[in-house]
Amino acid sequence: MLQDKNIILGVTGSISVYKAVDLASKLVQAGAVVDVVMTEAATEFVKPISFGSLTKRPVITEMFPDTTDYNIAHISLSDRADLVVICPATANTIAKLANGIADDMLSCTVLATEAPVIIAPAMNYRMYRNEVTQENVDKLKSRGFVFIGPATGRLASGAVGQGRLIEITEVLGAIRQVLGKSGDLSGRRIVVTAGGTQEPIDPVRRVSNRSSGKMGYALAEVARDRGASVVLISAPTSLPAPYGIELVSIETAQQMHDAVVKSIADADALIMAAAVADYRPKNISDSKIKKSDDSLNIELEKTTDILSVVNAPVKVGFAAESDDLESNAKEKLAKKNLDLIIANDITAEGSGFDADTNEVLIIDRSGQKEKLPLMPKIDVAHKILDRVVALISK
Ligand code: CTP
Repeated sequence: MLQDKNIILGVTGSISVYKAVDLASKLVQAGAVVDVVMTEAATEFVKPISFGSLTKRPVITEMFPDTTDYNIAHISLSDRADLVVICPATANTIAKLANGIADDMLSCTVLATEAPVIIAPAMNYRMYRNEVTQENVDKLKSRGFVFIGPATGRLASGAVGQGRLIEITEVLGAIRQVLGKSGDLSGRRIVVTAGGTQEPIDPVRRVSNRSSGKMGYALAEVARDRGASVVLISAPTSLPAPYGIELVSIETAQQMHDAVVKSIADADALIMAAAVADYRPKNISDSKIKKSDDSLNIELEKTTDILSVVNAPVKVGFAAESDDLESNAKEKLAKKNLDLIIANDITAEGSGFDADTNEVLIIDRSGQKEKLPLMPKIDVAHKILDRVVALISK
């Protein structure tokens, strides 16, 4: 999605400038063409060469550089930009942008561009909450600038407050979402479930499974990057909340059922990537079960099969199998009335729990099969969503 996109990375003078080096690196790795524009203050924190050696392009620090290279003049830069991201953005730069001041290369470029602009502020918390900064932020928001952060936490001064630069993974999420706004899922609403549900036995113990949630999170993020508005209903995972996605955190199969029912009304598709417990303890003990006899029996009862009881214009299920992959998957597809089932052999190399890759077999309602090779879960997500897009537009 970022491949060959022209991104202007504006960098202003904050102690958090070093984090922007990581952002530049990640953007380049994702295939973007990155032009870094630094304010003079930013160069006091990090030298331009740190950015230039990653982007393999000249870093612009001056309004009137001693060069005849027309391609780096502010108008040509802003003309070809698909997106401008200012990270970190100081109170001073925000104030300049809000008031049309164009006295350095970055503010000139922003004034001259028609590309979307994302701003990730970083400053002392008192500067951020100052009324004038808040007014400037509101002014820019009302003109369509996208603000992300700042986060609350420990600041460079040692004080704790709202002013920290947001995590770079979130800035990347915002960039992907803004660039994907008019993608092939634009205007669509997709509900995705992820993770392994947890069914309590007593206040300290639970029955769960080894699902990492990675496949579901990849699907939710890719759907967002292709323009969808996404609800991600997630059992506990160790994954960070993705930017720009409505995250509904649940624990049990029953809570997941209730959350799906609540969010499905106007959805275009439901993708159940979660590993939902098939059984839960029948009686949950209010107090901790003490060790006594040599064995302990816990009676389990069936949970509701969410896919079977819920309707959506497009329903996609997963089948994680260790035996008879295809026949089991086909049976589930029919039984749960699915449009697609994504089957994977959990014993295959690279396809197990917690892996970043997956090797799947996609089967549709008519029984047609598509066997995909082992690939990153992000790529599997794209393949599944290609099929969902085709089904939605039928
Ligand atoms: N699923 C569901 N509700 C449940 C259990 C599973 O919606 N209570 C969904 C899963 O999210 C997945 C699909 O059904 O998309 C298949 O789940 P799986 O556990 O493999 O299927 P089961 O029908 O439970 O069969 P089995 O466990 O016997 O293999």
